[in-house]
Amino acid sequence: MGEAEIRFDELRDAAQSREEPSPFGARLSVSGSSISEKVGAILEAREEIVEQFHRAGGLLLVRGLEDLREAPDLLVRISEIFGPEVENVRQTLTSDRFFHESVPELMVLSNEPPVGHPPPPLPSPSRTPDGALVVSHPQQSNWHTDQSYRRPPPDVTLLFGVVTPPPDQGQTLFADCSAAFEALDADTKTRLCDLDGIHAPRWIGRSPEDVQAGVTPKPLLPHQRPVRQPLVRRHPATHRPALYLCQPQQMDFVEGPIVGLETGPDGAGADLLEQLLRHATQARFVYTHEWAAGDLVIADNRCLLHCATWYAADRYPRLMWRTTVRGAPGEEYAGEAKSWMPRDGEALMAGMEGV
Ligand SMILES: [Fe+2]
Repeated sequence: MGEAEIRFDELRDAAQSREEPSPFGARLSVSGSSISEKVGAILEAREEIVEQFHRAGGLLLVRGLEDLREAPDLLVRISEIFGPEVENVRQTLTSDRFFHESVPELMVLSNEPPVGHPPPPLPSPSRTPDGALVVSHPQQSNWHTDQSYRRPPPDVTLLFGVVTPPPDQGQTLFADCSAAFEALDADTKTRLCDLDGIHAPRWIGRSPEDVQAGVTPKPLLPHQRPVRQPLVRRHPATHRPALYLCQPQQMDFVEGPIVGLETGPDGAGADLLEQLLRHATQARFVYTHEWAAGDLVIADNRCLLHCATWYAADRYPRLMWRTTVRGAPGEEYAGEAKSWMPRDGEALMAGMEGV
């Protein structure tokens, strides 16, 4: 039995056929003759891994962990490296069809029953004139950061590919919102740092489509209210500022989407959100992950957007496990209780965002 070892490399973006490595992201290789040996090596190198994760802008890929499917609790052990609390999915506004049967920290994402989570639509056209995948908003319409309608929001998401569709479909895209912020002009940066977005789950009737259709927003208890989040967040570990925003369906178009700007789908707030989403999801800021079974992708929600892409769900099964880690959201959230937890006698909402 050989000694397990870890190694870090640059992350290459096969889907974009780029010659150069991705400007953000790192690949962690782990040798070892069994899954317990590999996970043991990961846990032993936890400090170095977290340091590399931050240095790489909050994106880390580990391949070759197929045998994790037989030991889902080990995914929770790996998740614990990335923050103080691996969340219990039952307490994160997630409907129960996404719960794993035995591990409360795992969310199950699948097109198959009982989950039945469909992929996003195929953009039209789906390829650029050069043949590359179309990645930018609004053609790719699913860009978000996980559960930003909770305050403090989750810090890190771990996604593990149990069963993945064939290549060229069902990718996950990641956008580097630190680099996107840095690329803005100085006046825009100053202006954005004073603004807050208002985030809301899509099931409470405050999306642009709901507002346009004249839907009456649901009456909400205090813990069900949309939440304000800074439009620019400073990462607690790296101190780099990053844009923090979401697809319109995860923002509030009744009172927002931007505090202090004209509300509604045709207002100045909507215009700014649209402009920033287009900016942050340009191909130059995006890494495209082509999944293989056994891949683990670790992504920092504090400084990245991500987006699932279409796959032929009528022909291929897709099964992913997800965990979220919370507890280090940055000083703007210091001392805050969980905004979404019900007070005495109130019920926890259930729902699901685009994952
Ligand atoms: Fe997601």
